[in-house]
Amino acid sequence: MKKSPIVFTLCTLATVPMVLLTLSIRENKAEQKTIESVPPIKELESRSSEWGKYYPRQYDTYLQTRKSDKIDDVLKEDPALVVLWAGYGFSKDYNKPRGHYYALEDNINTLRTGAPTDGKTGPMPTACWTCKSPDVPRLIKRDGENEFFTGKWSKYGAEMMNSIGCADCHDSTTMKLTLTRDYLKRALDAEGSLKVADVTHQDMRTLVCAQCHSEYYFKKTDWEDKGEKKTAMVVTFPWKNGLSADAMEAYYDGIEFVDWTHQMSKTPMLKAQHPGYEMFVTGVHAKNGLACADCHMPYMREGGVKYSSHNVGSPLDNIGNTCLNCHTGTEKEFRETIEKKLARKDELAQIATDVLAKAHLEAAKAWELGATNEEMKPALTDIRHGQWRWDYAVASHGGFFHAPEETLRVLGTAISKGQDARVKLRTVLAKYNAADYVAPDFSTKEKAQQIIGLPYDKLVEEKKTFLNTLRKEWDKQGEAKGLYDPATRKDMVFKTSYSE
Ligand code: HEC
Ligand code: HEC
Ligand code: HEC
Ligand code: HEC
Repeated sequence: MKKSPIVFTLCTLATVPMVLLTLSIRENKAEQKTIESVPPIKELESRSSEWGKYYPRQYDTYLQTRKSDKIDDVLKEDPALVVLWAGYGFSKDYNKPRGHYYALEDNINTLRTGAPTDGKTGPMPTACWTCKSPDVPRLIKRDGENEFFTGKWSKYGAEMMNSIGCADCHDSTTMKLTLTRDYLKRALDAEGSLKVADVTHQDMRTLVCAQCHSEYYFKKTDWEDKGEKKTAMVVTFPWKNGLSADAMEAYYDGIEFVDWTHQMSKTPMLKAQHPGYEMFVTGVHAKNGLACADCHMPYMREGGVKYSSHNVGSPLDNIGNTCLNCHTGTEKEFRETIEKKLARKDELAQIATDVLAKAHLEAAKAWELGATNEEMKPALTDIRHGQWRWDYAVASHGGFFHAPEETLRVLGTAISKGQDARVKLRTVLAKYNAADYVAPDFSTKEKAQQIIGLPYDKLVEEKKTFLNTLRKEWDKQGEAKGLYDPATRKDMVFKTSYSE
């Protein structure tokens, strides 16, 4: 049989799309493989833009944290805090948190980190960098944990070039979530209710945040470096007795820990940092298995691709993609619910700071009149515990929403302890003929800083000199080392509480 040229042509033509299809499947497979394979990012690469080359959606949303740039001066809002923190860095400067984009910049600019003139001076230890930068895990790996926590903050100025970034939460060799801070692992195992070995993926979506949004103290640790004796100030979570305000208070009392001695009342004080994780776990959302990322890093959809928003900020900017995934209601209702919760917390917090500030000033007066250690001790213990509890409740940022009942309970006990102190101090003052003593007016930041004798203008001057000299030098050195990533400072405006 003679083959029809028409049939032959048709047959040949028919194979063309098949061949093309096969080729295209092969190509797709290759592309899929590229998507699935882990790109060649250096281990502990601290420059987020290097990761961003392979994960543009995560990187672009991450960069949006720069939009949360407002400086809210908390000392101005509630000047009683200046009195509460007399003799401690926080009385100099304290702002509400901003976006992760600014973490490093704010740490460098705050008056609390002072004005070092070289790598050995300055008030703060190296530990103050710990929750600001992915250069931290890089340096801990390079220098060892003990060396990392030894020396002054200024020691690493020329190494800290990148604000919170990919390498803080991801392992570049697998892209899995990872804990880059060993002190969290030690704390989880010491506390025991969630052992590191039992951690699930959903837990990790909370624990990456708990690396930084947790209470800590600097544990003095003596160690030996090739025969040389050194002392490290190692970030440690006080979780051994439990995560509640009461449990941590007992822990600190047990080791007689003192963050600083109050300049006026001479109270051996505790400073709560930001027990956000600890407060969160007592709340209804944690009890129902939610993780931080469920509200702060919601899933987004873009052209058929699902990814996590890395714009970690207020869930209220995206109620539709967070709350309304599980709840019914309108955005307006959710905003109002949250505002009410915040107002309830603020009402009690305001009473607590007023009571505690007066207690400090009344104690100062009692000392001035000649009160003895023995007379003062019971009142000072109440001040220590009352202020710790107030601080735990308000510094657990977002606690008013994450765990409203626990927040209000802790604030209630703070007020009660502050009042106990004042009753005891009245008796002491009466003994020294000052029963009618009235504490001075601390109703503005300036008045309060005058009462505690803070040389504010001098601190600002010194800071500005530091920013114009040593800080510039750090940046130059960081750039020369190849650590500096211009994208991390793009369009950054210098904003502080003292620059207006
Ligand atoms: C490496 C430390 C670190 C990690 C990890 C971290 N944070 Fe933060 N976070 C900070 C610091 C520091 C700030 C304050 C930055 C500033 O004010 O400059 C902050 C600020 C915030 C804010 C306030 C943002 C704003 O715009 O007001 C939220 C919300 C927040 N973090 C949530 C989270 C969540 C949720 C996670 C986990 C997915 C997380 N953080 C992981 C250190 C960290
Ligand atoms: C504060 C911690 C944190 C930081 C910083 C962070 N991530 Fe993530 N990332 C997460 C969490 C939590 C998830 C959700 C993981 C999950 O549910 O599997 C995630 C998911 C991802 C995923 C998986 C796909 C997705 O979107 O869910 C990729 C890829 C990713 N991140 C890349 C990055 C890159 C690139 C950076 C830096 C620009 C970065 N991440 C910074 C916490 C972080
Ligand atoms: C059920 C949703 C939800 C979960 C889960 C959640 N948050 Fe929040 N978070 C919120 C809301 C709502 C606010 C209040 C936002 C506002 O007032 O703009 C908030 C506030 C915050 C703030 C204060 C931001 C600021 O600028 O003051 C921080 C920090 C924070 N959350 C961190 C966390 C961390 C860390 C976790 C996990 C341990 C977590 N959140 C879990 C909903 C959630
Ligand atoms: C993944 C699901 C989920 C998401 C997302 C979620 N919730 Fe919830 N929420 C719950 C569950 C479950 C409960 C507990 C309900 C119960 O016990 O009856 C709850 C309880 C509450 C309650 C009552 C308890 C309390 O603390 O007063 C409020 C208010 C609330 N959610 C607000 C919010 C807001 C605001 C957001 C967004 C920022 C949000 N939720 C996001 C699941 C979710």
